[in-house]
Amino acid sequence: MHIMGKEIVVSGIRSTGFLHIGNYFGAIKNYIRMQEDYQCYFFVADYHSLTTHPDPASLKPNVYRVLAENIACGLDPEKVALYVQSDIPEIPELYLMLNMMAYKGELEKTASFKDKARANPENVNAGLLTYPTLMSADILIHKGQFVPVGKDQEQHLEMARTFAQRFNFRYGDTFPEPHPFNFGADLVKIPSLDGKGKMSKSENENATLYLADTDDLIRKKVMKAVSGDAPTEMNSSKPEVIENLFSLMNLVSEPAIIENFETHFNNCTIRYGDMKKQLAEDMVKFIAPIREKAIAIQEDTSYLQGIMKMGAAKARESAAKTLAEARKNMGINFYC
Ligand code: TYM
Repeated sequence: MHIMGKEIVVSGIRSTGFLHIGNYFGAIKNYIRMQEDYQCYFFVADYHSLTTHPDPASLKPNVYRVLAENIACGLDPEKVALYVQSDIPEIPELYLMLNMMAYKGELEKTASFKDKARANPENVNAGLLTYPTLMSADILIHKGQFVPVGKDQEQHLEMARTFAQRFNFRYGDTFPEPHPFNFGADLVKIPSLDGKGKMSKSENENATLYLADTDDLIRKKVMKAVSGDAPTEMNSSKPEVIENLFSLMNLVSEPAIIENFETHFNNCTIRYGDMKKQLAEDMVKFIAPIREKAIAIQEDTSYLQGIMKMGAAKARESAAKTLAEARKNMGINFYC
């Protein structure tokens, strides 16, 4: 399926809950643009979701929803390989090989590992520790060059480059070094509405705007966003929570509207209630059509199963080639 000359793009989304506008603006928006000019492999990272031992009954609806929401956002399963990670057995095989290139000390130092180990000290399992090697296998299995992701994945990408380099050094040139990608140049982090960290699938639910939220829920969450008092000095610098409101507005509102609120901020006449009302309506306008499309697609399970099978066939073709090369380079080719 590899079309000569096209650069290779790989990215995944964990099936741990509802997608939110952080996933959209950090990753999916780039997928939609990249599908036109790149050879794209996009997948649902269901194996990655197993680190927290989810209820087996929740996996299927979560995987279907992530697929449906991606398609509702504009991803075209004809143009890209859209698949589920666990349908590609070559990925865990490469993961095993890459684990030999990954040292305990560096895995323990990964920020996401440290955060999760601190949050759930009773469940520091080997899957969590080797999360970055599985992610590297996801990317390297297709010889991925560009990886559209949000800022939180930057360190994982750095590790993928390290593991690729080590493999190449030991066994000969096999993998290109994958780089994080965003059309806006810098990787983004969409902040939560409460001024505490980022939007998230599983935490901060009242301060995260999900693609499945109803219009009323969107309005309620935005109106509750932390804002504080209006400035008292002209042209003062913005507190972080206000900076966040403007960043969110930048995603969905017209430039003239944003400029108007900037002016009111600078001359101390801003009313945050009005700003949040405007932001809420613009978010509703953005999210509602995606939500409605996703609901319709999610109900069509036979359509989604067809997409998954088609995606898996495309992904396995590319994965099998890379794996054969990696095995050969490592010396695991006993029959020829
Ligand atoms: P996940 O499922 O947490 O998130 C999916 C994508 O959404 C981005 N993202 C955000 N971007 C900006 N602001 C936010 N608040 C925000 N929250 C999430 C993430 O950066 C990501 O791009 N480990 C990955 C899944 C994965 C993967 C891969 C990604 C597995 N294998 C291989 C790329 C390549 C993850 O947990 O993403």
